[in-house]
Amino acid sequence: MEKKIAVLPGDGIGPEIITEAVKVLNAIAQKFGHQFQYEYGLIGADAIDKTGNPYPDATHELCLNADAILFGAIGDPKYDNDPSAKVRPEQGLLKMRGALGLYANIRPVKSYDALLDASPLKNDRIKGADFVVVRELISGIYFGKPRGRSEDQNIAYDTCVYTREEILRITEKAFEFAKNRNKKVTLLDKANVLATSRLWREVVTEYAKQFPEITLECNFIDSAAMEVITKPTKFDVILTENLFGDIISDEASVIGGSLGLLPSASMGEKTSLYEPIHGSYPQAKGKNIANPMATILSAAMLLEYSFGLIEESKAIVNAVDKALNEGFVTEDINQGKYKTNEVGDKIVEFILQ
Ligand code: IPM
Ligand code: MN
Repeated sequence: MEKKIAVLPGDGIGPEIITEAVKVLNAIAQKFGHQFQYEYGLIGADAIDKTGNPYPDATHELCLNADAILFGAIGDPKYDNDPSAKVRPEQGLLKMRGALGLYANIRPVKSYDALLDASPLKNDRIKGADFVVVRELISGIYFGKPRGRSEDQNIAYDTCVYTREEILRITEKAFEFAKNRNKKVTLLDKANVLATSRLWREVVTEYAKQFPEITLECNFIDSAAMEVITKPTKFDVILTENLFGDIISDEASVIGGSLGLLPSASMGEKTSLYEPIHGSYPQAKGKNIANPMATILSAAMLLEYSFGLIEESKAIVNAVDKALNEGFVTEDINQGKYKTNEVGDKIVEFILQ
């Protein structure tokens, strides 16, 4: 198979972890006889420094013309500490999500037996946890208008808007995942308070009637925030709106033992993007200590979801499992002794074995 992959390393540790993921993709190409061609683009603070724009037009073109997108991380402390900055790296990410129509954010969460002790949560609670968060990504309060400040600057407002259509397309995605998993969808909302949540419940409940084999549960986000870390095994597919999904997926990441392990996919009609859920970890930039596994697992999701290469994707997942079980891990996991590039090399070695 011949495919073109847009690669956007971004900021902080982005370039280092992306290097390892590309190395792993090359190993897959070698082993299974594929050709992956990479085209690199600018995004985030790096793009602001070089072009003044966190998501330059050239990057958008590159993404549109690629078969899939692999993304590192964005964010730079020099913007976090400057509330007056007009252009911010995060704007690049939101602009890209919107412009590419990446409406479905998929974040799988699971506990690894080898890492049960690495999580601050009790072993018996998290053992066997395995669910996926399906988060709506390009609407809701992140994008709703009007937003801004009153003239006297004393009032600020954001608006949460959802249309039936936006809810329906992400609901279809969640049910697709549930069909191939344990056949349960849990909708998280705040339908006791919010009008948008009541529309979500209406649309999702109506849609679910077509699939009697799939169980639908509707939970309030506040109590689900508790259950996600006290009873994580009750979840299979979590379906939720943009802001709730943002919060619940960071919370759920403690189940896995390290934020450095969680991959994600952002899927659209035309193209899809794959990235680790962690940020740019600026303190570790250039030190060769960041965990490349989340990005490597994101590359595995890319192969499966965008190219339909199931066996190739499994080969990556198995190699990562092996590295975890045999202790070839970076310092974020059980005080691992290995460097970013050494973990990447090990995973390549396991793939080519
Ligand atoms: C995420 C991030 C982004 C979000 C930020 C960086 C804009 O937290 O991908 O979860 O809030 O969606
Ligand atoms: Mn987030």
